Amino acid sequence: MIFESHAHYDDEQFDEDREALLGGLFGGTVCTVINVGASMQSSRASVALAERYPGVYAAVGVHPSDVGELDEAAVSGLKEMAAHPKVAAIGEIGLDYYWEKDPAVQRRQRMWFARQMELARTLQLPAIIHSRDAAADTVQVMKDAHAEEIPGVVHCFSYSPELAKEFIRMGYYIGVGGVVTFKNAKKLKETVVQIPLERILLETDAPYLAPEPHRGKRNESGFLKFVAREIAALKGVSYEEVEKVTRNNAERLFGLEAVN
Ligand code: NI
Repeated sequence: MIFESHAHYDDEQFDEDREALLGGLFGGTVCTVINVGASMQSSRASVALAERYPGVYAAVGVHPSDVGELDEAAVSGLKEMAAHPKVAAIGEIGLDYYWEKDPAVQRRQRMWFARQMELARTLQLPAIIHSRDAAADTVQVMKDAHAEEIPGVVHCFSYSPELAKEFIRMGYYIGVGGVVTFKNAKKLKETVVQIPLERILLETDAPYLAPEPHRGKRNESGFLKFVAREIAALKGVSYEEVEKVTRNNAERLFGLEAVN
């Protein structure tokens, strides 16, 4: 069964069928889901989902696009949420210069990224890192935070194979999702070819980024079979091998035994 390392089932796009999807774990194809917070509210919602469904765990953290809501009181709030036994990570945290061009706000993103990395270190939880159009600064903040002492994953990886290897040298995993199935995703396919399977996590980022043949539709963890199939083809290994190794990777990182 598949370990889904990054999804957002608190999103309103799942209001109609959340119970059917998570209650049935996608027809038994998925063993574990990490539901990832991106704001204070979605972090709380992630913990609530983890409480309700045995196979669901939560990550709590504030996404770079939402750092406007962060202050030290909010960080204390995240810390309180993280005390819940089903919180498995701090995230998603990081930098997004694709959506944010203002240098002053980018500076605030770096500050709160560093602060939440510190929180991960204090709580001894892995970090789930979002990084878009901000490669150099992401590496810099991670180096300054001694990220090699804080395990984690760079989710929805969108940079070069060389950069993937740099994150791997810091002890990080590389999150691969639906984009790898897109015909024009040459860089990501090349990254998958060049890095060890032992460093890859499967993720959807649902409801976003559905793989082929569902591109453009609402994504869900059951579609990870298309991602695993593509990775198997790129690496010349069996589908079962991809499923097993990526599940072991995620269990190791998040310190979880899969429920099934
Ligand atoms: Ni996400």
